[in-house]
Amino acid sequence: MSGHKIVFTPSGKRGVVAAGTTLLEAARTFGVDLDSVCGGRGICGRCQVVPTFGSFAKHGIESQAEHLNAPNEVEARYATRKPLAEGRRLGCQCKVSGNLVVDVPESSQVHRQVVRKRAEVRAVTVDPVVRPLYLEVEEPDMHHPSGDWERVLTALASQWEIDTRAVTIAPTALDELQTALRAGKWKVTVALHEERHGATTTGHRVLAVRAGFHDTFYGVAIDIGSTTIACHLVRLADGEVVASSGAMNPQIRFGEDLMSRVSYVMMNEGGEAELTQVVREAADTAIAETLTEAEVDTKDLVAMVFVGNPVMHHLFLGLNPVELGGAPFALALNSSITTPATSLGLTQGAGAIAYLLPCIAGHVGADCAAVILSETPHTRDEITLVVDVGTNAEIVLGNKERVLACSSPTGPAFEGAQISCGQRAAPGAIERVRIDRETYEPRFRVIGSEKWSDEEGFAEEVAKLGGVTGVCGSGIIEVLAELFLSGVILTDGTIDGRLSDRCERIVSEGRTFAYSLYEPSEAEAPTLRITQNDVRAIQLAKAALYAGVRLLMDRRGVEQVERIQLAGAFGSHIDVRYAMALGMVPDCPLDKTSGAGNAAGEGARIALVNRSARAEIEEVVRRVEKIETAVEPRFQEHFVAAMAFPHATAPFPNLAKTLHLPPKSAPPASTNGDSTGARGGRRRRRN
Ligand code: FES
Repeated sequence: MSGHKIVFTPSGKRGVVAAGTTLLEAARTFGVDLDSVCGGRGICGRCQVVPTFGSFAKHGIESQAEHLNAPNEVEARYATRKPLAEGRRLGCQCKVSGNLVVDVPESSQVHRQVVRKRAEVRAVTVDPVVRPLYLEVEEPDMHHPSGDWERVLTALASQWEIDTRAVTIAPTALDELQTALRAGKWKVTVALHEERHGATTTGHRVLAVRAGFHDTFYGVAIDIGSTTIACHLVRLADGEVVASSGAMNPQIRFGEDLMSRVSYVMMNEGGEAELTQVVREAADTAIAETLTEAEVDTKDLVAMVFVGNPVMHHLFLGLNPVELGGAPFALALNSSITTPATSLGLTQGAGAIAYLLPCIAGHVGADCAAVILSETPHTRDEITLVVDVGTNAEIVLGNKERVLACSSPTGPAFEGAQISCGQRAAPGAIERVRIDRETYEPRFRVIGSEKWSDEEGFAEEVAKLGGVTGVCGSGIIEVLAELFLSGVILTDGTIDGRLSDRCERIVSEGRTFAYSLYEPSEAEAPTLRITQNDVRAIQLAKAALYAGVRLLMDRRGVEQVERIQLAGAFGSHIDVRYAMALGMVPDCPLDKTSGAGNAAGEGARIALVNRSARAEIEEVVRRVEKIETAVEPRFQEHFVAAMAFPHATAPFPNLAKTLHLPPKSAPPASTNGDSTGARGGRRRRRN
């Protein structure tokens, strides 16, 4: 074929086109990822390219400025609204008249990369679930009567090559249609959702219609936790979070933990409807807050993704969670769900389409599926352990060959509940602790201050925060680990009362001893002590966590893990060395351990902006091997062995390279350490 050779960079895609072809047309012909919302009308500016001139021996091309038309009126008009950067042209306005090398900047690609803050996670590209498409619609004609919607369909077919046999419109979008067409003088932008089954397109749905050119639509990624609801408003074009909000889950008034909420439903007829209503209202409010903060019109909210544990998932969908309260913990359904947001009782984003990730098992929810999507153990060579630490720890172990998952009933101790001096992470809470190995004197830091307690100015800073108020979850892990590493807490968890002779901080409390972490000078401020019961509560929680991990290791046939990622607010704040010193997690090279932040929320964001990720996680969840800890006979055995610090038998060679671990110790005969916790057995499942 005679014509002109065009090479697009950085993709390297190339081909020959006839004179007069635009660069946008050429890009489409060669499968180059070049965006367009206006369909080549010079309005959207999404098709910007950088023609590059010179001699390109590699491509056998002389790329010259004369091989393109000069900037035209359309580009000049566009530039009056939004100046084009040096060297940039609108691809839809550039007509080819010779060979060219053309660069497509990242910002002009439909599938641009989503910004992710951590280096160790894989890159995510935008693969839009909803696309804005600009349409010029025929005006109504008395002689050829047809409806506005039918003329929109005609425009979709002729201007965007959409197969309109399976295109539907959301009722709210239909409401907007007539007004938008007339206000926009028969030019509108529609938000078009592509419906898929697996990788096959099954149809489209118009979710919103806006007058004239309108290229920015939004989605929300929502993590419904049993304690908090976190909402992120995301710009769909680039995956950027533009506003976030968080709220307490109002279901707490029906029960602190999930099992008590399930019990409420069992004991109160219609209780599930109450729980559904309050959680939906809270999600709706959280969405409204992000829209207000980012000054986004609710009509521009067209996509939602929700994740949550199985009980939250069921209640949010309006499903009765009672079956999740007892064996065999059957889910009503474990597939993903795509449904109009209005069917979930939401008032914000009335045209939006909502997607709920699949649940994995009766105790391993859509939040865990989102964690997998974010942390990708299923794509790694290394045996990777991902733990989302909460009231119920969700545990994933595996690599690209096999992935296993379970949950373990850790209870609320890691969050500071059941701990005498424990509190939620808030200003004034102790979060970092160091203990002198000789004198057992502590020094610590509180949330809200950068100073250590032995530094000048600490007292003044802390006074501004309202004083030292308690110890948060990460602080409890550190103080216990430091006490263990100092020898104050023995291998079996007993606080060694023999040391009370030489350290005033170790005080008798009847049959047991406590460690006094903080003794304020003012009488009204609380004294913060680590009691024997506190140590037992953490032992029970960490033993449940470790036993769950160990069960998965058994099933996977591995004796060690090669990477550990701790997800969730708590998991991200704890120092992994200390978590390992207590035996919460098995030994692992320390440079292969990291906090994963809010991985469930991040997974929801990925599913929001990348439709292929939805098909991916649906496929991964189907092949995740689910382990039910409640019926595993070895759980109890692992649990008992894991009560010791860091563990009765498992070695910790990597940890020993960094921290000096004390020798294994027996409880002193003179100390009445209550070691019943070691025989405490299975805790009540809390989901
Ligand atoms: Fe919209 Fe070129 S495609 S400006």
